[in-house]
Amino acid sequence: MEIRAIRQDEVDEFLRSDSRAFGWQLPEELLALYRQTVEPERSLAAFDDGQMVGVALWQPFDLGIPGGTMDAAGIASVGVHPTHRRRGLLTRMMKRQLTEFHEAGIPLACLTASESIIYGRFGYGIASFNERWTIERQHTSYARPFEAEGRLSFVTPDRAKDIFPEIERRAISGRPGAVLRPETSWSVLLADPEIQRRGASAYFHVLYERDGRPEGFTTYRLKDETVLVDLLMAATDDAHAALWRYCFDIDLRTTTTAHTRAVDDPLPWMLADPRRLKREVYEGLWLRLVDAPQALSGRSYAREESLVLGLVDSFCPWNQGTFELEASGAGARCSRSTKNPDLVLTAADLAVAYLGTEAFSALARAGRVEERAPRALARADAMFAHRPLPWCPYEF
Ligand SMILES: CC(C)(COP(=O)(O)OP(=O)(O)OC[C@H]1O[C@@H](n2cnc3c(N)ncnc32)[C@H](O)[C@@H]1OP(=O)(O)O)[C@@H](O)C(=O)NCCC(=O)NCCS
Repeated sequence: MEIRAIRQDEVDEFLRSDSRAFGWQLPEELLALYRQTVEPERSLAAFDDGQMVGVALWQPFDLGIPGGTMDAAGIASVGVHPTHRRRGLLTRMMKRQLTEFHEAGIPLACLTASESIIYGRFGYGIASFNERWTIERQHTSYARPFEAEGRLSFVTPDRAKDIFPEIERRAISGRPGAVLRPETSWSVLLADPEIQRRGASAYFHVLYERDGRPEGFTTYRLKDETVLVDLLMAATDDAHAALWRYCFDIDLRTTTTAHTRAVDDPLPWMLADPRRLKREVYEGLWLRLVDAPQALSGRSYAREESLVLGLVDSFCPWNQGTFELEASGAGARCSRSTKNPDLVLTAADLAVAYLGTEAFSALARAGRVEERAPRALARADAMFAHRPLPWCPYEF
């Protein structure tokens, strides 16, 4: 079966194939919206006798990492028709993508996954977690007195499109794991097609400004007695507290739910009765170190320290081997080494630790990292630790 980049005239079939793989029929209304999100030269398809049976695309991101951002390929629209599964088509598409990223010098790849069983085998590791929240209105009092200093107003989708992306950019600045929502995704989101409402209201968009300066927003739906918060982004703590207060206090509603919240969001610490906030943790971003030495030398470290890593990476053999990482005040360097490794681990497990999501020592206790030198785990933990914790508020 052939795998190749699609042509412009195959974009609609690409989108239909993707939908079929997920088990739904793509209505015309959505096809027209999604068309703009597909760049043919970054979109692969698998063909069986000329018929499209598998798809995967990527888009360029600046991914937040400790100390800055790094070029990353964001993988999306991955699917293989149920008629052609478990014959290695996804494996071939993954291999082809990663080889292309390697050749193009893109050091990282990332995605959000439909199932957590799929991507580990391709060297992706869980690099951030999200929380899903539910809270009843009567338990939403804040622990400390709070008086919002700014003002709230409803805005139209057109105005939201002008203002919200910049607020989101400020809100995620300095956040490992975060990427900017592409303009095309804002267009799809704000178009708010009926089919995506699932019986809830159309979107309400509320802006928070202080002294005329936009500082936060929320985009939510109402369904029966529940406020369904899809987005709430705040560039300041005042905006964050004001917007949650607003969501909790909407009259005639008894419950607020939210998803894709950061695990270190301050809200639980703001509540007088934090146990009443029901918190469910689930995985967020999956990360792949396409070029491990480039990725490792590009982030900042909490300690001036050196570490020799034995990397196991059969899917991207160019990463396989031993690398010495040296972090100093002047930055980090990472190069091939003939020394004995301090730690031995797979590329997927290194991706889990890379943004600071999990400590090497925890991965070692799970049998995923082997310590070969005394105190190597403690040194690695101290080096890679980072706050804030990774968070990717944009699911793609
Ligand atoms: C996930 C999906 C793309 C996999 O495609 P595929 O062509 O069947 O994958 P492959 O044949 O390359 O599978 C490679 C390996 O992964 C395993 N695998 C892949 N998807 C799996 C899944 N959903 N559950 C369990 N195992 C899976 C296969 O069993 C195979 O294992 P093996 O090497 O031990 O035989 C396909 O099942 C699909 O389209 N699912 C619905 C849409 C979806 O979830 N897409 C992913 C969006 S993030």
